[in-house]
This record gives sequence, structure tokens and C-alpha cells, in this order.
Amino acid sequence: MQDKVIWKPSTMLYPLPVVMVTCQAGGKSNIITLAWTGTICSDPPMLSISVRPERHSHGMLLESREFVVNVPSEEQAFATDYCGVVSGRDTDKFAAAKLTPAPASVVGAPLIAECPLHLECKITETRELGSHTMFLAEVVAVQAAKSLLDRNDRLALEKAGMLVYVHGHYYALGKELGHFGFSVRKKKAKPRTRKKKA
Ligand SMILES: Cc1cc2nc3c(=O)[nH]c(=O)nc-3n(C[C@H](O)[C@H](O)[C@H](O)COP(=O)(O)O)c2cc1C
Repeated sequence: MQDKVIWKPSTMLYPLPVVMVTCQAGGKSNIITLAWTGTICSDPPMLSISVRPERHSHGMLLESREFVVNVPSEEQAFATDYCGVVSGRDTDKFAAAKLTPAPASVVGAPLIAECPLHLECKITETRELGSHTMFLAEVVAVQAAKSLLDRNDRLALEKAGMLVYVHGHYYALGKELGHFGFSVRKKKAKPRTRKKKA
């Protein structure tokens, strides 16, 4: 048993994905970096994002009721941080961070073309929780870079060089330790080797 310290309640759940969410309202688009996000339902596919009311994006999300979750790779680490410390109120973050807007397939908000994975979302519910408004949303389309598909058209996300966020720091995803269900999967029997005749 390890010795533990006990702290007051806080949001100490890590690691988290860190994403760049794009939204569009009044003819303008914006990017906001978010770590308070997660999958909340498989069928229908749903996720949530939590946004403080003082963010410029908050009003845009309320107005348009749709957004795109752009999942960045290591290459976009700098831009991801930048879009989380500068407001779209006074800066065009696409231009400033040298990110390319591209049309989404279902929603009006643009994608960030440089990111390998996009989840287009429509907001179904808005909940004011306290410091943050949680937007519950249905995923209405997914776009992935073709370069991430393997020979069997499986999405090989492990090739994407994904970013994770841990208590104020960004990390590149580490080594693979196993796959879903590996703890119960029977090991393949080793092929018997025939003894060579003397
Ligand atoms: C790594 C990281 C994670 C963040 N996560 C959130 C979040 O989950 N919710 C939120 O409201 N703001 C979050 N922020 C802060 C916003 O991204 C930041 O205030 C941004 O400048 C708001 O942009 P906007 O005013 O253009 O909407 C995060 C910032 C960083 C750098």
C-alpha cells in the first residue's frame, strides 16, 4: 500500500484528450481548445464538452447548436495550446495559428484540415453546471485521414501521434501495453518444434 495525501475535492481526473473545437455563428468561425470533453453514449454516439460562459465560443455554440471536435496530433501541439490561451473575440485563430479551415460534411462549422480526426456534432442538450456549461451532443459524422487506414481499412489511430493532457502538461501517447480484452485472451499455443533426428 502506498501512503496517500488527502486533498479538497477537485477535477483531478487525468489523462484527458485535448481537442480543438470549431464553431461557427454570424458568418464567423472560431477555435477553442478544450480538455473537459468525453464520450457519453455509444448508441446514439454522443459526447460532451464543457465550456465556461465567458468564452467567446460559448455564445457561438448556443447560437449555432453545432460544432466539430478536431482531434489533434503531436504536430498540432503548439496550435492546440495557442487556441486555448487566445480569444476569438479579437483574433482570427485560424490565420494566427496557420490552421486551414475545410468544410465539414454535415454541420456548418469548419474542420481544421491539419488534424487527423474530426467528429461533427449537433447539440441536443445544454446544462449549466456551475463554472461550466455542459453541451451534450450527438456525433453526426466522423472524418478520418485516409493515411490512418491500414490494409483492411481499419482506423489505425495509433499511427496518429495523439496528444494527451495531464495536469497542465501535454504528452505524446506512449507505448502500447495491450489491446481490448488482452487480459482474458488465451495465449496462442506455440508451434511444436520437431526434434531433429540424430
Ligand atoms: C489545454 C487547455 C484546455 C482547456 N480546456 C477548457 C475547457 O475544457 N473548457 C473551457 O471553457 N476552457 C478551456 N480552456 C480555455 C479556453 O480554450 C480559452 O479560454 C480560450 O482562449 C477561449 O477561446 P474563445 O474565447 O475564442 O472561445 C482550455 C485551455 C487549454 C490550453
